[in-house]
Amino acid sequence: MGDSELHCKFLKTCDLSAWLYLRRHGDVEVDEKEINLEESFSIHAGIAHTRWATHGEPAPRNSHPQTSGPGNEFLVVHNGIITNYEVLKETLVRHGFTFESETDTEIIPKLAKYVFDKAKEEADQTVTFSQVVLEVMRHLEGAYALIFKSRHYPNELIACKRGSPLLLGVKELTEDVTNGSAFHNDNFLSKKGHPKELFLSSDANAVVEHTKKVLVIEDGEVVHLKDGAVSILKFDKDKGKHGGALSRVASVQRALSILEMEVEQINKGKYEHYMQKEIHEQPESLTTTMRGRLIRRGSCKSKTVLLGGLKDHFKTIRRSRRILFIGCGTSYNAALAARPILEELSGLPVTMEIASDLLDRQGPIYREDTAVFVSQSGETADTLQALDYALENGALCVGITNTVGSAIARNTHCGVHINAGCEIGVASTKAYTSQIVAMAMLALAIGGDTISNQARRDAIIDGLYDLPNKVREVLKLDQEMKDLAQLLIAEQSLLVFGRGYNYATALEGALKVKEVALMHSEGILAGEMKHGPLALVDENLPIVVIATRDSCFSKQQSVIQQLHARKGRLIVMCSQGDAASVSLGGSCRVIEVPLVEDCLQPVVNIVPLQLLAYHLTVLRGFNVDQPRNLAKSVTTQ
Ligand code: F6R
Repeated sequence: MGDSELHCKFLKTCDLSAWLYLRRHGDVEVDEKEINLEESFSIHAGIAHTRWATHGEPAPRNSHPQTSGPGNEFLVVHNGIITNYEVLKETLVRHGFTFESETDTEIIPKLAKYVFDKAKEEADQTVTFSQVVLEVMRHLEGAYALIFKSRHYPNELIACKRGSPLLLGVKELTEDVTNGSAFHNDNFLSKKGHPKELFLSSDANAVVEHTKKVLVIEDGEVVHLKDGAVSILKFDKDKGKHGGALSRVASVQRALSILEMEVEQINKGKYEHYMQKEIHEQPESLTTTMRGRLIRRGSCKSKTVLLGGLKDHFKTIRRSRRILFIGCGTSYNAALAARPILEELSGLPVTMEIASDLLDRQGPIYREDTAVFVSQSGETADTLQALDYALENGALCVGITNTVGSAIARNTHCGVHINAGCEIGVASTKAYTSQIVAMAMLALAIGGDTISNQARRDAIIDGLYDLPNKVREVLKLDQEMKDLAQLLIAEQSLLVFGRGYNYATALEGALKVKEVALMHSEGILAGEMKHGPLALVDENLPIVVIATRDSCFSKQQSVIQQLHARKGRLIVMCSQGDAASVSLGGSCRVIEVPLVEDCLQPVVNIVPLQLLAYHLTVLRGFNVDQPRNLAKSVTTQ
């Protein structure tokens, strides 16, 4: 079992007369329609889980809930990976348990049954559900968010987490539980006795249509729901030094927070797919990313950038030995797009790290480093683990995320929220462009105002103000990209060449095509063309060359010539007005985009490639919003 999502709606539990669960392999939307839950069952508590397979193929027997065996005494859904499951499984097999699935998850309900039976054998008739789960947690290694149900505790439900995200949503609050007020155990029942609706989820998107009031569950905490009341327990390291594990448990009290998102954000509106909506939303999402952060001051209208989340840390950042950008996938690509401007304005060396690779190498990180963690979800396991590693090594850690309250937002020393709004399509689009803009603002803020760089800074800030309009303009290429997709529909492969600021665009454009259109695609650094990729070029393979105006333009013209000389099938992206100079007398297809300041050009240039990937996917008949084998938030390593 792996990176999956779990959602639980819990309305004042009752003793279920029947223990029902369904496990299916396939499309969630199709299943939902076929099963028609509301008509099929009368239930007060339900758990739903979509599985992203790590151990065992996608199949009903590997789906969740996993059970403790015949009689289903304990049922569990799980998001994460249990790394010591093999050892635990061997022990459980020695104690007579038999396993049906290939999942790591199956050991959890079986371990719960083992703990429960042992307590009963030892004549502990009072063992509580929370105690069973706390004892199970003590044996688990890895990352998990879990929800348990048990026949032995009919009106109860337990959730717990370590490493994987989990939040509790609370609907119909009374005056005693409001935003910012302390959360007290067991106080969720209204004084007037109104029923409460409680939701547990690994993702805020699943909760927001019901309530915005949430409690972010922290590592090691156990949430106990019983008869509409909630209590939260946690191992307390300082308590019960001489007692057993279960004596080291303290109850938790914390403030509820309010989700900063609207239900409309999780609707498709007039669009057919989330990815399409999110591509077209970019003028607005970029505006929100910049809102309140670009300032024109005084009569001379001097321009500056304010990033409140970093204000106490600029001195340390400027004194760093180097800046490291750390991320995965699209977030890594966004950082790569921002790297040149950060190097230019800060004068500091900026190095790039793919989180998993940094961890594999245990690459050196120093106290004098500033490590910037870029993550849309703020929950990506590789990035989180790299953050732990950087914290251990004493670096200043900065988060750039789109998710307020996410693990990366919480665990870094300071950071910037990109405020792109909720992104639902698995393929990241609007978060990518907002990340680049947030990092361009970071570069401006770190660079500081000096006379020598004032003209450059002013030009970038003016460019930022105008960027949403330029993106609006480039979105008009939608039909053109659809036509191009039609031409490429049956291709096996697509290469994308870029360099300088737009090396990142080449990688990101290729990633979009690969992940949603399921077409092999590779982003290639144009400077490396002669060192291998040129061998692939023939009259059949389509190649996109990004050749918008910047300091690399003449080099890209030469790349176009060399590809053309080898009969390459070229699609050239160029600045408006440059078509004649790049189209080789009309022999290649041209995509003209508006010209903006060089460091912002990747924001404009990625849009046609996002549109191309989107249309290719629809035309090829694949699932745009949930590409095969992928998950939105990769919370397993
Ligand atoms: C691709 C995509 C992924 C994510 C990557 C990191 O479209 O979305 O490559 O960028 O899994 O996720 P975050 O940014 O949430 O850390």
